[in-house]
Amino acid sequence: MAASQYNLQHRQEYSCGALRFPETSASDRCFMQRRSFLKGTGAVIVAVAGGGVWRAYDQGVFSVGEGPAYEPWKDWRKDSNDGSPLVLVRAAILAASPHNTQPWLFKVTNSSIELYIDTQRNVGALDPYLREEHIGMGCALENLMLAATANGYAATVSLVPGELGPISADPPPKLVARVDLARSNRQQSDLYDAIPRRHTNRSAYLPQKAIPPEFIDSLHRLTSDEPDVKIFLFTAEADRKRIAEISSAANSELYSDPAVTRGSDRWIHTNWSAIQKHRDGLTPDAFGAPPIATAMIKMMPVRMLKWAASRGPKDGYSRLMLSAPLIGILAVPDRYGQPDCLRAGRIWQRAHLLATARGVAGRPCNEAVEMIDHEKSLGEPPKRAGLLAEIIGDTKWQPTFVFYMGYSKWTARASPRRPVKDVVV
Ligand SMILES: Cc1cc2nc3c(=O)[nH]c(=O)nc-3n(C[C@H](O)[C@H](O)[C@H](O)COP(=O)(O)O)c2cc1C
Repeated sequence: MAASQYNLQHRQEYSCGALRFPETSASDRCFMQRRSFLKGTGAVIVAVAGGGVWRAYDQGVFSVGEGPAYEPWKDWRKDSNDGSPLVLVRAAILAASPHNTQPWLFKVTNSSIELYIDTQRNVGALDPYLREEHIGMGCALENLMLAATANGYAATVSLVPGELGPISADPPPKLVARVDLARSNRQQSDLYDAIPRRHTNRSAYLPQKAIPPEFIDSLHRLTSDEPDVKIFLFTAEADRKRIAEISSAANSELYSDPAVTRGSDRWIHTNWSAIQKHRDGLTPDAFGAPPIATAMIKMMPVRMLKWAASRGPKDGYSRLMLSAPLIGILAVPDRYGQPDCLRAGRIWQRAHLLATARGVAGRPCNEAVEMIDHEKSLGEPPKRAGLLAEIIGDTKWQPTFVFYMGYSKWTARASPRRPVKDVVV
């Protein structure tokens, strides 16, 4: 009924215009032409606007942080009152991981949780020794340990020894840590409470807003129970400039290798329904753009997005890094030692949670260390290792993680997460 009425009205309008057109004067005709042009244009605008609204809806422009992919951020305390250790896993899966690969699997009993790395969930040539994926496992372990204390468990960690090598073809999941649990008193902590608010913030920062010295002292103290990780912090402009230049050059060189781009692209999702399905990877909401630009990015086809990204200023990345008043480097005795990677991950997660609790934003910027891996895997001289060693000025320590912190222009958004049922074996 509605459809035939629409057709009828449409036909009457058209006939009316066509019948009158030959009897009109030149100026009338001109007016009529303009009117039908405007009508046509109006129809196109309405159609385009309608299509745009539909695309915006379809691409989740109006649903930031909504849908199944974001539920783990909301129901993370779900099992906290029934005594199930699953509440520890709910906290662990909210941890950071490279490209949001979430490489973790958990074997849970009432008295222990084993952490396995699913080595298939990797970024290929960008992380040829899975060094960063193991750091991600350390991030999950830190959240798990904070959740244990907050939920009434005394937890003891054993890290599995080993040295990292090149990624093998079809590797099975590998045990990297075991946590033994015994009942104890609940102890709340700021860091545990900050877990669902911690998000990597890739927006520009406010360069004039300095970080309070007490916060820097607290960062230094974070490793007091972890002698195998050292945190180096830089606030002087000359030091930050040097690190930003090394990182920016590393970024350009790394991503000019098609193998690296392929490994990274696998984890970049721009389609909203794919994000809700896969629940992992990097997504436009987490790119750090202002809200209106984010909406536009979400509506762009991938090819246009890549083209737009390639038009950015050459020094854009180092400028972004320098907008933050603090750059930090985490270093360990052995960059490719499996337990050292997990230890570094624990400290990054802890540092980022502390920052979140104090209203400070943070972002890893690891291209310089990724270039160390890249040079090693290609058998090239270790140029980047030398440059970073000069910066920290202590050859006992090997840099493995670089980050910056400050006060951001824009709030960071949550990234998607796979559900607990998909990561418990
Ligand atoms: C080992 C490691 C390396 C990372 N390197 C970078 C990086 O170089 N640049 C960046 O923007 N984010 C980096 N990240 C952050 C992840 O992309 C981020 O944790 C992931 O997308 C999940 O988002 P979330 O931290 O907001 O939960 C890194 C994270 C880890 C654990």
